[in-house]
Amino acid sequence: MSELVSLSRAGEIGVISINNPPVNALSPGVPEGIAAAIAEVAADASLKGAVMIGSGQTFIAGADIKEFGKITSGQRKEGINFLDVIKSIEDCPKPTVAAIHGTAFGGGLEVAMGFHYRVAVASAQVGQPEVKLGIIPGAAGTQRLPRLAGVAKAVQMCADGNPVSAKEALAVGIIDRIVDGDLLEGALAFLREKIAAGEQPPKTRERNEKLGDEAANAPIFEAARAQAKKARGLMAPQAAIEAVEAATKLSFDKGVARERELFNQCLHSDQSKAMIHVFFGEREVAKIPGIGRDVQQIEIKKAAIIGAGTMGGGIAMNYANAGIPVIIKETTQEALDRGLAIIRKNYQNSVNKGRFPQEVMDKRMALITPQLSYDGFEEADIITEAVFEGMALKKEVFAELDKIAKPGAILASNTSTLNIDEIASATSRPEFVIGHHYFSPANVMRLLEIVRGQVTSKEVIATSMALAKRLKKVGVLVGNCYGFVGNRMLHQYGREAQFLVEEGAKPQEVDGALYKFGMAMGPLAVGDLAGLDVGWRIRKEFKHLEKAGVRHPLIADLLCEMGRYGQKTGAGWYKYDENRKATPDPEVEKLIEDVAAEAQINRRTITEEEIIERTQYALINEGAKILEEGIALRAVDIDIVYINGYGYPAWRGGPMWYGDTVGLKKVYDRVCQFYEEHGELWTPATLLKELAEAGKTFAEYDKAK
Ligand code: 3HC
Ligand code: NAI
Repeated sequence: MSELVSLSRAGEIGVISINNPPVNALSPGVPEGIAAAIAEVAADASLKGAVMIGSGQTFIAGADIKEFGKITSGQRKEGINFLDVIKSIEDCPKPTVAAIHGTAFGGGLEVAMGFHYRVAVASAQVGQPEVKLGIIPGAAGTQRLPRLAGVAKAVQMCADGNPVSAKEALAVGIIDRIVDGDLLEGALAFLREKIAAGEQPPKTRERNEKLGDEAANAPIFEAARAQAKKARGLMAPQAAIEAVEAATKLSFDKGVARERELFNQCLHSDQSKAMIHVFFGEREVAKIPGIGRDVQQIEIKKAAIIGAGTMGGGIAMNYANAGIPVIIKETTQEALDRGLAIIRKNYQNSVNKGRFPQEVMDKRMALITPQLSYDGFEEADIITEAVFEGMALKKEVFAELDKIAKPGAILASNTSTLNIDEIASATSRPEFVIGHHYFSPANVMRLLEIVRGQVTSKEVIATSMALAKRLKKVGVLVGNCYGFVGNRMLHQYGREAQFLVEEGAKPQEVDGALYKFGMAMGPLAVGDLAGLDVGWRIRKEFKHLEKAGVRHPLIADLLCEMGRYGQKTGAGWYKYDENRKATPDPEVEKLIEDVAAEAQINRRTITEEEIIERTQYALINEGAKILEEGIALRAVDIDIVYINGYGYPAWRGGPMWYGDTVGLKKVYDRVCQFYEEHGELWTPATLLKELAEAGKTFAEYDKAK
């Protein structure tokens, strides 16, 4: 055995413990250790069976994801093969029980399914989340799971990757008992019952009774494939379905072989490399140089929000969802009622869809206190401002907060563009002021850009990062500049989308190409959804910063002047019917042609390739400038911002990772060409130039930091 896996005794039962913190992943040594422990149990005449349990927080949370990169890069020669280990558990002549707490995910569930029985605590979860890494189960999960849970449940779990609770796992047959009280004691008791009953230990791979027949299974696979199409370019869900289908059509061994082929195809794809980058990236962004675990956090027990508009309401929901009482203040009863009605409607929708029961909604609503006064603000540990975007108003609000908030309270602004230091200057405590930039709808979008001011304290930053996790957000720390990371880059992206339209592409061609690329929506359609007036107002506020002689988009402001604010007015870049379905509008096309003619813009045919290059390379070039300036800590932070806040496809890894995939030399050369053709807006970033010339990637740049 090894330090990672140990075998002890509880009377006549062997207890195998996995000890590979933090999540007991199947790192090298763990599968071998399990196989050795099982062999020892089988050989030891004084032992009648075995229980396996994870030390610490969890059972086995899966294969060690770090190993995948070593395999695809050629650093590790042999692949990952847990199949023999799992078969050896299944073939153990003595009964074995997997005792599950925390998560049995991926390879963890696959190992558990090799055991003859599985018991779990009620809070445990089991799942095959591999598709979220762009791969599929690779240790016979697609073959054993349908044999335990039935085809429909197995195909769902393997294709969408979402976990199921212990309760559901019991109902469908993945586990055999839920243990109340001590897990090990419960597992030992369960095994003793089985030993006493003299039951032949069942081998999952031989249990074919739930595999159904072709006629019953066909509609299940058809429905799963239709559902998986919604993941658009993503290969893994379709491959997972195919592998489960193989379980229903082939022998166990042939099914396993098919799974392996599909697993390897997925593993060696760009998609899984990108998604594994995203997995680690989401954890990397939490690591802030200079702010370690020793930094004291501010305890957040009570919160307050100013403004119950689009954002304030969603932010209040985040707090209530996390069980934190929150006051929400407005200026008029009408605005307050409107805000609360939207919150109630959002919760009601979730109840109606069965996401949680009415009692949960009632509890959450009860945590939200709507009011017109500042009563109770003096007790809040954090106050988040979400009033209209305008410096004068923000400063007025922060000056008031400075008088009311208790010492040590965090004062956060949800501004999407404004200078946090200037906002902080309205207070006597700028070290407690920070940007908490949520994304619309704030209760849904996972991103929280945390904007550090010049003097924001480490405690306030550390608390904000931890709070993001508590609110189920991905917090990314960014520096203070116009638009921070996300919107600053979006500005370049949106600008190019509009220039392309002025130069001859139709709005639906620009949106269509980017949708096909994988974006959740095209940029012009997003503008219509968010409201074109939002950007219009911001542009007016920053008009004085516009440089003479530098090209700027012409159409969006004209659409606003025509009252075309987007979906909310039934017309923007497109026109909308009563179901908000968009269709191209000849009036807009005419407007574009007229404006282009007046501005003497040469209209031409624009290829899809150019649409992708102009928009994506604009993101990458600006991202490189943001990195140079230290506004983002790492390239991966930018990727995480884009994936969680802007609908960027995770399977492309984010814009900076996409740049690496294309090759920075190619990106840089095109940026230089665009600079020649279009002028200073395309000034190449120095960092992009340096990396391109050195033949390096942004990922390498991150690693070297
Ligand atoms: N491999 C390697 N490292 C892992 C890991 C894994 N499977 N799962 C988690 N980690 C690491 C994280 O990177 C993080 O490291 P850090 O502290 O250095 O940043 C640490 O463990 C803790 O992870 P989280 O911050 O995510 O901790 P949480 O408590 O929030 O979540 C979890 C725990 C639910 C287990 C979550 O980490 C998770 O979902 N992990 C991935 C599970 C997964 O995808 N398993 C399938 C792997 S693929 C597979 O098994 C293939 C097989 O079919 C052959
Ligand atoms: P909104 O117009 O929907 O809501 C603002 C609310 O603030 C209004 O209900 C208004 O009555 C209220 N308000 C104004 N002054 C107040 C005061 N002194 N006290 C209490 N309430 C007051 O605006 P939205 O969209 O919610 O934007 C709020 C902030 O969030 C802005 O800074 C905006 O830039 C930012 N933001 C907006 C996003 C969006 O997509 N709408 C995304 C991210 C940030």
